[in-house]
Parts: sequence; C-alpha cells; structure tokens
Amino acid sequence: MSIPPVRIAPSILAADFGRLAEQVRAVADAGADWIHVDVMDGHFVPNLTIGPVVVEAVRAATDLPLDVHLMIEAPERSMGDYIDAGADRVGVHVETCPNLHRTIQEIQARGVKACVVLNPATPPELVRPVLCDVDQVLVMSVNPGFGGQQFIESQLEKVATLRGWIDAGEREVELEIDGGIGTGTIGRAAQAGANAFVAGTAVFRAPDLRGVIAELRKEAEGALAGR
Ligand code: DX5
Ligand code: ZN
Repeated sequence: MSIPPVRIAPSILAADFGRLAEQVRAVADAGADWIHVDVMDGHFVPNLTIGPVVVEAVRAATDLPLDVHLMIEAPERSMGDYIDAGADRVGVHVETCPNLHRTIQEIQARGVKACVVLNPATPPELVRPVLCDVDQVLVMSVNPGFGGQQFIESQLEKVATLRGWIDAGEREVELEIDGGIGTGTIGRAAQAGANAFVAGTAVFRAPDLRGVIAELRKEAEGALAGR
C-alpha cells in the first residue's frame, strides 16, 4: 500500500484559547491539512483540557478535518459526543480500550475515521492485530498530557516497525506522530515512515505560520521521498 500524502496537523493545545476560532482560521489559511484537538480528562493524563462544546466551536471555525485525540479513560462512553460535535477522525489510546476492536468498529459505524494511539512505553505489537481494520495509527513521541516536551528518540523505531507492517498490508493507514515535532525532528520521523505530523509549539509559537508549515512540509516530503 502506498504512503498517503504528508499531513501537517497543528495542535490547538498550543493556541491562545482566548482567540481560539481566530487561531484555527489562521493555521487553516497558512496551509494546515488537519486540525489536531487534544482532549484530556485529568485521569488518564494529568491535565484537563476541553470537551465537546469546544470541539463544536473549532468545527464552526474551519472546514478542515478535525483530528480529535482522546486522552481519556473509557473513551467508548463519550466518543459519540465528540463525533456529534464534528470530529472527522477519532483517536483512542490502546491503554484505555480493553475491547479495542469493538471501539474501532463503533467509531467507523458513525462514519468517521478510527485511529489507535500508543503511549511511548506501549509496544507496537498491541495494535498489529487491528492494522487491517483501523484508518490511522498515532505514535506518541512524548508522554501525553502537555505540549512543549522533548521528542523521545526511541519512538522512531516503533514508527519504522509500524510502517513495515502497514506497507505489507492491503489497507491504507495514516501513520501519525505526536509530540516534540518541529523542524529539528520532522525529517527523522518521516524518514522512519510517518506521514502525518502533529505540531503544537513549533507551529503556534512561530512568528510566521505560513513559513513554518511550508518548512515542515518540505522537510517531511523530502525525507519521505528519500526513503
Ligand atoms: C500531548 C499532545 C500533543 C501536544 C503536542 O499530550 O497529544 O498533541 O499538543 O505538543 P508539542 O508539539 O508542543 O509537543
Ligand atoms: Zn495530541
């Protein structure tokens, strides 16, 4: 299966929440492919962020696909609310889903794309049995909970392993990486086989949104082409 195109997904976690709609429109105008939305419950991760009403507000601000990353316990209980609010892609953590295959089916039955997410300490083998069913895999390259953390290099090997398994399969699966992605790291992540890149701090703290998104895309495309 060929690798899908490069997707640059700015994470609104690093945006100014007092001007959220404006910031979402700004990254959309600057060339973002997806908007990444980090939902945290204060239990699965030590931070608390947003719920469905904010996803609804982001939905109203853009037509871009909303890549909603659920860092919450028992996501099967509330993921429908995020889909109703306008999520296009729903990511659930493997660590929170004892019935992962069923959860994937329930997301897809609602007509949206299903993504499985792995924490840094979670081995890729845990998602191998569902690679023929999911639409997306997200490798966390920081421990989830906060923006602005340092990229964990050991996750590149996990990306490469997953890329090999995805390429050997028949299904088109987006391979995304999240945490510490910027101009210093995106090339290596793409070289390992990721095609979708979440970037919070690197995008929203940049003085030139259009410039940084173009630079990230150029580095990722160059590294993917050179594989
Ligand atoms: C971390 C979140 C990330 C975060 C990334 O738990 O899942 O999406 O926003 O932020 P940066 O790009 O600053 O590492
Ligand atoms: Zn995220």
